Amino acid sequence: MSAGSGDRLQKVLARAGLGSRRSCEALIAAGRVTVNGAVAVLGARVDPEHDRIEVDGVPIGVRAGLVHYLLNKPRGVVTTAHDPQGRPTVVSLVPPEPRVHPVGRLDADTEGLLLLTNDGELTHRLTHPSFGVEKEYLAEVRGEPGRAALRRLREGVDLEDGRTSPAKVGRVAPNLLRITIHEGRNRQVRRMCEAVGHPVVRLVRTRIGPVTDRTLRPGRWRPLRQDEVRALERAIRGAD
Ligand code: URA
Repeated sequence: MSAGSGDRLQKVLARAGLGSRRSCEALIAAGRVTVNGAVAVLGARVDPEHDRIEVDGVPIGVRAGLVHYLLNKPRGVVTTAHDPQGRPTVVSLVPPEPRVHPVGRLDADTEGLLLLTNDGELTHRLTHPSFGVEKEYLAEVRGEPGRAALRRLREGVDLEDGRTSPAKVGRVAPNLLRITIHEGRNRQVRRMCEAVGHPVVRLVRTRIGPVTDRTLRPGRWRPLRQDEVRALERAIRGAD
């Protein structure tokens, strides 16, 4: 760590998009920030070019000005910037600056992984209908789907907006399915399960392309690691 020179850590964190200076101070005070492997103290000075700065073990800063957050969206939180009904929004769960937007959407009732970023290019490609990275869900359903229901889900289900593309479907427990789709239609998994006679009771997104995290608790977010951003960029290369 650079002693006496360099910028104050909270300023560097804020510039990297981890929140206001005050919320970055709180991250440091909570012991969540390390510099070159050592837990950082408030007021430490760092050289972001040379020091290895991590928050919750994740290096900060992928590209100047661009931030990518992975949020574990709790149930009841809406995927918009503002909700007329006054429900909490996903944007209110991540730092206010720089402003980020959700990549795609999860229903208010759906839980799990959601990306938020100010990277317009990445968003455009990730949500482009002709492409679409894999999205994996755990769906707890009513009843116990049999082989015929699973086959229909895998082969494609006729919905009012057309037949769904083939999906990967595995049974984790009698009433729990792992469903992987690469389309992004409105309420798609819920409608697919409903169409085969097994409405969804609980839906959790567990993976977006190469990005997954079993340890991120509901309501918490973390910056994507550099290797995750690169893997996402690889996954969407060629979209458009
Ligand atoms: N499919 C759904 O039904 N809901 C979601 O939130 C995401 C996928």
